[in-house]
Amino acid sequence: MSSGSKTTLSVIKADIGSLAGHHKVHPDTMLAASRVLAEGKNSGIIIDYYVTHVGDDLQLIMTHRRGPNDSKVHELAWNAFREATKVAKELGLYAAGQDLLSDSFSGNVRGLGPGVAELEFIERPSEPITIFMADKTEPSAFNLPLYKIFADPFNTAGLVIDPKLHAGFVFTVLDVYEGRAVDMRTPEELYDLLALIGTTSRYVVKYVHRKDGEPAAVVSSERLNLIAGKYIGKDDPVMIVRAQSGFPALGEILEAFAFPHLVAGWMRGSHAGPLMPVGQKDAKMTRFDGPPRVLGLGFNIKDGRLVGPTDLFDDVAFDEARRLAQEITEYMRRHGPFMPHRLGPEEMEYTTLPDVLKKLESRFRPFDLGYKPIIRHEELLEAGGGSG
Ligand code: 13P
Ligand code: 13P
Ligand code: MG
Ligand code: MG
Repeated sequence: MSSGSKTTLSVIKADIGSLAGHHKVHPDTMLAASRVLAEGKNSGIIIDYYVTHVGDDLQLIMTHRRGPNDSKVHELAWNAFREATKVAKELGLYAAGQDLLSDSFSGNVRGLGPGVAELEFIERPSEPITIFMADKTEPSAFNLPLYKIFADPFNTAGLVIDPKLHAGFVFTVLDVYEGRAVDMRTPEELYDLLALIGTTSRYVVKYVHRKDGEPAAVVSSERLNLIAGKYIGKDDPVMIVRAQSGFPALGEILEAFAFPHLVAGWMRGSHAGPLMPVGQKDAKMTRFDGPPRVLGLGFNIKDGRLVGPTDLFDDVAFDEARRLAQEITEYMRRHGPFMPHRLGPEEMEYTTLPDVLKKLESRFRPFDLGYKPIIRHEELLEAGGGSG
């Protein structure tokens, strides 16, 4: 799918194993992935690349001229993950190969486990872009920030005062359970949009476009739990957002992350917690395998070359957001196994509930005003309960 003068930015990520638990990527696995991408650059498949990580997720940032869903680019990413997995296995890293669900590559990494966000565009004279990578959460974690960036005038001043933003944007909303999507215009359909994307367990903002068709943002939307039919790892998401001249300013994009909103994920992919914006040095998961974190990198793209990055949340201006996230962490944690800290049964990635219910099935009795609890130990045993 080659497209001439257009540049494609591909961010492809996978958890291929990590140090000391679901904590952080080991540098040797990043090195192994970088070697493969360097070969891809030498052979002309990609123009440039940058390898990084957030928590236990290895991130491949690549530029090329081949368009989204290109089999050569996807194969390159796949090989990088395979080589990194080999190292992860040698080092005995935890959950080595976690997100590589298949042994064979079939032309596209979608459906094989890795998360993919790709954006194709004609480079502006200066092309500032931002990449957001989150761990211990899911793609719909970006619903709220995307709403703020592209539709909330209290976040993005440009929606009101910049003639180039004033017309608004088009959101493509994916229904992950039905595998269908709907395009919604803002500001015209704001309330309908919010009715959908507030339901983060089902609706994911996949793309945002300007009304003249220019692509503005894309989010990875692979859902590992649905792909594999069972829990393998939360589908930690990535997002690309273009900035400045005709798009929200860099600071308007970052402003959306100053509020550490609650997202699903965290420990065992089964808890709600605040999304904490962090710099690269804090892009590791600790407390209760979290709290969920988002790393932001800024680049300029020039003739396909990645200039940068700058570590966007590594700044005192986000200290307050982090402090608030700590406070929310403390508050949510105190709920222990109770909802809404623990997710509802339909969203939990780990659960013993069916087994517990099965065990208790024979002991459930009709309840009415005459109900008498079984208190005595012998009777409890007779009813099938209490083992000692
Ligand atoms: P541009 O219109 O060049 O994107 O500038 C807007 C801006 O930087 C406001 O902070
Ligand atoms: P990852 O999806 O990041 O591997 O995390 C899994 C988990 O269970 C964390 O507690
Ligand atoms: Mg992991
Ligand atoms: Mg992860």
